[in-house]
Amino acid sequence: TLAGSSTNQPLTGSALTDWRSIPGGYVACENDRIVAVGPMAELDETQVTAATTVLDAAGRVVLPGLVECHTHLVFGGNRAHEFQRKLQGETYLDILASGGGILSTVQATRAASQEQLLANALHHLAGFQRYGITTLEAKSGYGLDAETELRLVEVAREVGRRQPVRVVPTFLGAHVPGPEYRGRPTEYLAMLVRDVLPHLNPQEVPFVDIFCEEGAFSVADSRQYLTQAQALGFGLKIHAEQLHDLGGCEMAAQLGAISIDHADYLTPAAAARIARQSQGRTVAVLLPLVPLFLRQERYASGRAFIEAGLPVALSTDFNPGSCPSKNLWLAVSVACLKMGLTPREAIAAVTINAAWAIGQQRECGSLEPGKRADILVLDVPALEEIPYWLGENPVRQVVIGGELA
Ligand code: NIG
Ligand code: FE
Repeated sequence: TLAGSSTNQPLTGSALTDWRSIPGGYVACENDRIVAVGPMAELDETQVTAATTVLDAAGRVVLPGLVECHTHLVFGGNRAHEFQRKLQGETYLDILASGGGILSTVQATRAASQEQLLANALHHLAGFQRYGITTLEAKSGYGLDAETELRLVEVAREVGRRQPVRVVPTFLGAHVPGPEYRGRPTEYLAMLVRDVLPHLNPQEVPFVDIFCEEGAFSVADSRQYLTQAQALGFGLKIHAEQLHDLGGCEMAAQLGAISIDHADYLTPAAAARIARQSQGRTVAVLLPLVPLFLRQERYASGRAFIEAGLPVALSTDFNPGSCPSKNLWLAVSVACLKMGLTPREAIAAVTINAAWAIGQQRECGSLEPGKRADILVLDVPALEEIPYWLGENPVRQVVIGGELA
């Protein structure tokens, strides 16, 4: 049994390794909540009655449900037809500049009915659940006009109501300028601020995200847009330093962003500045399956970030273009292999730190009294085996809100 110890900020440095794990432990739940955690020897057996359901993990590893903190869950179609172009050497930005990439998914998404989008999202969410994901962030970003973007946010909210995995929607209308605004990124962002953000409630859609990159939005435009979103009460996220070092991560962290995502080109020096300035509150969300799928050599310097005191989380970035995989365990393995994380660090990065990256740290991400009873029984006897079985799904049982899923 494993349990994360209570913290008042995301884990980094040695704390990312030193979290508490309990050999031969128990987790007690009541209704949808965890009520006690500890070694079996300390279990108060009077609490175990005829009405208690006992789930015997029989020596296997038990973890909190995984938190998937960065996905583009809602989209139409797929991009299998571009896979071949990529294998022949076209880059991500080449394909985008030719009207493909994100824009090809926008076409398919606009053409899809609400029912199709819902069915697709539910299908992918069921896949995530099999991998033990019990909380998931879902971005809009394939509508790129006011009406479709609002529709995509609504689909994300609706799938959250229809099944047990908790869904946290993020508004990524600022993915790239919509096709109607080609070459006019500033005007496109002004349209989002005028026609879309006022229709979103930060209580329901807590975060606004933007893709800061060549071919998407500049640092200056991103700063202005995020500042406007912040004034309306939204938390901030950014896709930055994915393909170039433009300074987007540092800009967003200065505004108090909850997370800075990708960061493959973020330098260790900038990471150290971000860690200092944000006092360790901004989380770098690393997406190791993306460089793999985009055939990119450069992976985020996870090891250096942690040593610089920057908290890191891990995610798949599930989307039809840069990561069609929902296998967060594979992301854990690749983070160990290519970003220098240890197995313990990587596990914390897909649980408690991922929860911090989407503001859900009070609800999930560790096995602690008061949190939702989201619990996994894994088919491994030791934590170190998790990233070793490359590409496997170690999940044997998933409990969500106290119910065996
Ligand atoms: O996080 N980088 C920008 N956006 C997504 C990919 C979206 C797509 O290619 O459809 C990402 O990698
Ligand atoms: Fe993304």
